[in-house]
Amino acid sequence: MSGGILIAPSILSADLGHLAREIAEVEAAGADWVHVDVVDGRFAPHLTFGPATVQAARRATKLPIDVHLMVNEPERYLDVFARAGADGLTVHEEACLDLGRALAKIRSLGKRAGVALKPETPVETLQPYVGALDLVLMLCVSPGQGGQAFQESQLPKIVATRKMIDQSGHPIDLEVDGGVSAENAARIAAAGGRVLVSGSKIFDTPDRGAAIRALRQAAAAGLTATRP
Ligand code: DX5
Ligand code: ZN
Repeated sequence: MSGGILIAPSILSADLGHLAREIAEVEAAGADWVHVDVVDGRFAPHLTFGPATVQAARRATKLPIDVHLMVNEPERYLDVFARAGADGLTVHEEACLDLGRALAKIRSLGKRAGVALKPETPVETLQPYVGALDLVLMLCVSPGQGGQAFQESQLPKIVATRKMIDQSGHPIDLEVDGGVSAENAARIAAAGGRVLVSGSKIFDTPDRGAAIRALRQAAAAGLTATRP
């Protein structure tokens, strides 16, 4: 049971020589989704994965594959990542030619439509799109690299996004990505985050089960603290 919190390990920090085994291990350890960070070297100064990696992840697990596209003009790649086996496609608001059209296209492909915001992008940007969204991803670090520190300044933005989602009445997931740890998961959950992405804190430790449990327990404590 997730207790309302979902854990999405990011394979950016996995041992890529043993990707299928790494994914099987986090699945067995209780992960809810598998998060794949795609970076094009233009939207952010790094290069990571393409559709072939999504395909490999798809073969390795039954869990939903949550693809975070940190690429310019993601519209050009939606078909190929959908075909590769993504369950959800998340595009950056800052990177789209036309966000509304990108979201409609993702849904037309039968996938869950997500929007990600960089730390400096205001949440109000999303207001016109709430009816077209299945997920909002709050990026709490600079895009592209694992192992960075969580930007505490993002907590009020998570609160504001939670409020926007609740007021909209739409069943939109609020995902928090970057620097998530057992030390800050309670505050993130209390602020309204429900899907926690974690790369280094899960894959840089030999006991993935313990890392996932620690995140889940900390987040659950944050949720309990906010319940009346
Ligand atoms: C950052 C990525 C994250 C990253 C998280 O650009 O979107 O998904 O892999 O890694 P950690 O948990 O190590 O900050
Ligand atoms: Zn990500």
